[in-house]
Amino acid sequence: MAGLRDLAESQGVRFGCAVKTDALVQDAAYREAVAREANVLVAENVSKFGPLCPERGDYHWGPFDSIVEFAEANGQTVRGHTLVWHTQMPAWVTEANAEEALDAHVRAVVSRYRGRIESWDVVNEAIADDATPRDTLWRRALGPDYLAWAFRAAHAADSAAQLAYNDYSVEEICPKSDAMFQLAVSLLEAGVPLHAVGFQAHLELAAPPDLGLVRRNLQRFRALGLELLITELDIRIPEPFTEEMRVAQGNLYRALTEVCLEEGVSRMLTWGLTDRYSWVPGFFTGTGEALPLDAAYGKKPAYTGLAQAFSVVSRG
Ligand code: XIL
Repeated sequence: MAGLRDLAESQGVRFGCAVKTDALVQDAAYREAVAREANVLVAENVSKFGPLCPERGDYHWGPFDSIVEFAEANGQTVRGHTLVWHTQMPAWVTEANAEEALDAHVRAVVSRYRGRIESWDVVNEAIADDATPRDTLWRRALGPDYLAWAFRAAHAADSAAQLAYNDYSVEEICPKSDAMFQLAVSLLEAGVPLHAVGFQAHLELAAPPDLGLVRRNLQRFRALGLELLITELDIRIPEPFTEEMRVAQGNLYRALTEVCLEEGVSRMLTWGLTDRYSWVPGFFTGTGEALPLDAAYGKKPAYTGLAQAFSVVSRG
């Protein structure tokens, strides 16, 4: 039976998901589901700075290598996540060595995987919830130009890779997405190699986005010539879970995906594939069941919603 990857491909786009190395190694049903449904993978954790380089100069490539190799064996592309972020950082990076550490890290990681990673989240979550620049070690150490600097460094290491800025709570038109838009405009005006923008889309069924505002938001970023990516989609529902909620969740998966495809989104990735392994219950207490497959790999209405959207929509 056709998987989501085949349906997406028939629309000229890709569907994919975040994957966990441990599950790929230990769980055959997981491997089968990921191979069947996704044609773009991103590592949920193992390509972040801390996990990749816990001690100065000591890179643990193995877990990320195994994801890249799995992808290549299954005809899937890979997104790299992420070079510059304020969490999951190794303790050895400080404000005093930040510039040297980041320069070495970007060069080491991006050049190691040159030609094998289609798209990098160069900078993740640089805008705070109040829409001001986030106060991070990177900004304190390198000043506001650290974003431009990081994009240029990544481009120097792999000139063919797509370079993205990625953030959350920026799907609709709102103060935070306005700030992201201004950021994109100023980076592009300065000639910075910014190619794509990633909308994480960690959504909540109880507070669904206004799809009209999502549409207009996507349109304005596309008008800048940027490629549009949905990078971390999940839609959490509150406990106790009911079938009615699962159906409503499926409807939102479908409606959102239709808008995204109509407005030219080229890649849709969910943050995980199965509720068996999802960050949601641990992070948003009292919620869960956010992904297309249930914990036993059964197809939920969320899955059907995605499949329907990929079947009917013609690309914008
Ligand atoms: C999350 C992972 O899913 C968790 O396993 C980890 O404990 C914390 O990070 N935005 C991002 C992702 O860009 O990297 C985060 O991933 C989820 C929010």
